[in-house]
Amino acid sequence: MILRSAKHMTVLVLHILSITSHVYALNLDVDNQESIKDAGKTATYNMMKWYKGNGTDNPGFISRSWWEGAALFLACLNYWHATNDTTYNEEVSVALQHQGGADGNYLPSWAMGVGNDDQMFWGLAAITAAEYKLPNRPSGDTWLTLAERVFYNQKSAQGGGWDTTICGGGLRWQKDVWQGGYTMKNSVSNGGFFMLAARLAWFTQDKEYATWAEKVWDWSTSVKLVNNQTWEVADSVREGKGGPDGCTLPDHTRWTYNYGTFLSGAAYMYAHTNDSKWLDVTNGLMDALFETFFLPKYGGVISDRCEPSAQCDEDANRPIFKGLTVSWLADIALIIPSLKEKIVPKLEVSAEGAAKACTGNGENLCGNRWWGGKYDGQNSMENAMSGSQMMSAIMVKFLDSSSAPVSTATGGNGSSDPNAGSEESSEREELPPITTADKAGAGILTVLFVAGFIGGAAFLSISP
Ligand SMILES: *[C@@H]1O[C@H](CO)[C@@H](O)[C@H](O)[C@H]1NC(C)=O
Ligand SMILES: *[C@@H]1O[C@H](CO)[C@@H](O)[C@H](O)[C@H]1NC(C)=O
Ligand SMILES: *[C@@H]1O[C@H](CO)[C@@H](O)[C@H](O)[C@H]1NC(C)=O
Ligand SMILES: *[C@@H]1O[C@H](CO)[C@@H](O)[C@H](O)[C@H]1NC(C)=O
Ligand SMILES: *[C@@H]1O[C@H](CO)[C@@H](O)[C@H](O)[C@H]1NC(C)=O
Repeated sequence: MILRSAKHMTVLVLHILSITSHVYALNLDVDNQESIKDAGKTATYNMMKWYKGNGTDNPGFISRSWWEGAALFLACLNYWHATNDTTYNEEVSVALQHQGGADGNYLPSWAMGVGNDDQMFWGLAAITAAEYKLPNRPSGDTWLTLAERVFYNQKSAQGGGWDTTICGGGLRWQKDVWQGGYTMKNSVSNGGFFMLAARLAWFTQDKEYATWAEKVWDWSTSVKLVNNQTWEVADSVREGKGGPDGCTLPDHTRWTYNYGTFLSGAAYMYAHTNDSKWLDVTNGLMDALFETFFLPKYGGVISDRCEPSAQCDEDANRPIFKGLTVSWLADIALIIPSLKEKIVPKLEVSAEGAAKACTGNGENLCGNRWWGGKYDGQNSMENAMSGSQMMSAIMVKFLDSSSAPVSTATGGNGSSDPNAGSEESSEREELPPITTADKAGAGILTVLFVAGFIGGAAFLSISP
């Protein structure tokens, strides 16, 4: 008897040792909160080892890809929200405000060639901070203000946002004419803008945001970026023939986060309006997301299409997509509790897959493919982000309405002043060529001149 309990003690001690020496992810038990929190702590720690901006004079700046900062801080916000661990909050808060730039709309002078999707992700990070009640900074813009400024910039043609010159509406991928993606109107920019508008509508109950969310949705279905019969979400349409209004037909490239943006936007619209139309859209898109990316051949673990051929790092951003997607699913389970039962089993299977893939180098580094049953050697900041997002997302199992994102109706801080410094912002809106000149330098003067010429009066009015 004594011997046996001693043996039992040894097992226990070994178990505790294994926990304290960071082998958590290996042992993820999705039925155990502490186990998930431990896995999340490790994954988030490994993710933040990549971030070198804290304490520098440009906190939040990630030079390899500026928008990835937004995704990184989103992952931190999700981690804090899921666990209450505030370790990274201060550096996240500083970075999130600083990258707003002088105009507080996430077009800072130091970021070159910011696309609509890049800017949008920072707006989403800001509204997430507001929904999770991250305290506003003692001075400067509130989270709500930052998110609203992105919205105002993106709804305006002069801000390089909503554009009716081709395809009858929509956001172009890029704001700047000399960038390759300028002729393209893609899902993540438009789905992201839709989501941002829907979340602002839900958060503030202000009609203008809901009107815009409807408008973006109607346009997206009209060009079939989203097919409202089959719920397929394409990647993009572009200037050309085949579709409506000087637009091509949509392509057939499928990405998790494209589905995720429209899905999440629809869910917030349902939460905001209680209109069954939006619940139908939410269910339609969610079923399509599950069917397209949670494949039986991979045990139901979420995957993006680039994974089997190991081509996700062709564009280093791709490994981030599924992490964003699972984080939005977790938020949906909290704002529409009736969908939680549908969402959680999908998250569980993926989290278990991710735990097996996050076992690299004896430090639980995360690989890219969560369905392979093991670490695939693809250590990167982006894979670390998705690993962290997955562990935070599965915590939703244990969260109740007290952890749900808040709106101003439920304790969210509605303090905002999107028109503050309006001299500056109206100048910015009237004079896009100047802003872009600042960003891009003098090498593109010809294009600038043409843009200014088209800009007409606005351009002339700033000529001394
Ligand atoms: C971030 O930098 C600040 C100083 O600027 C420091 O106080 C803080 O501890 C740092 N945070 C982390 C998590 O390293
Ligand atoms: C975090 O704190 C809130 C408020 O105290 C609580 O309701 C919630 O359950 C906590 N979450 C976790 C995962 O412990
Ligand atoms: C809301 O944010 C504002 C601006 O930062 C701040 O002054 C105010 O105290 C906050 N209100 C609450 C209830 O936290
Ligand atoms: C589907 O989208 C088309 C194009 O925007 C629209 O005309 C139609 O009313 C939509 N159908 C439903 C059921 O919402
Ligand atoms: C939302 O709609 C459902 C049925 O469609 C109804 O039962 C419920 O009371 C509504 N809730 C609110 C807050 O209006």
